[in-house]
Amino acid sequence: VLITVVDRHGEAHELEAPTDMNMNLMEVCKSYELPVKGTCGGMALCSTCHCYVLSETALPEMGEDEEDMLDQAFFVEDNSRLGCQLRITEALDGLRVQLAPEAD
Ligand code: FES
Repeated sequence: VLITVVDRHGEAHELEAPTDMNMNLMEVCKSYELPVKGTCGGMALCSTCHCYVLSETALPEMGEDEEDMLDQAFFVEDNSRLGCQLRITEALDGLRVQLAPEAD
């Protein structure tokens, strides 16, 4: 599926993300060497994969872990999600997100 990620300089990157590798959005960003740290390894514990959803894409509901982490994260907006909690599926085709500012 094709996903667009706007980096922290406002530059858009088109990423081709595989649906058959059980990857999440944080991992895909890292594989394209975008500046997403993913410090906790995708456990919803660090919020370094925090991003804003810009498209109208229907996304899976947030899990409790994701909600709890976003409660503690900085720069949280209504369209905030954790990239590591967004598994790449066909439903994400056309998704457009922007990387949230780094908190540290
Ligand atoms: Fe740590 Fe997503 S990688 S919260």
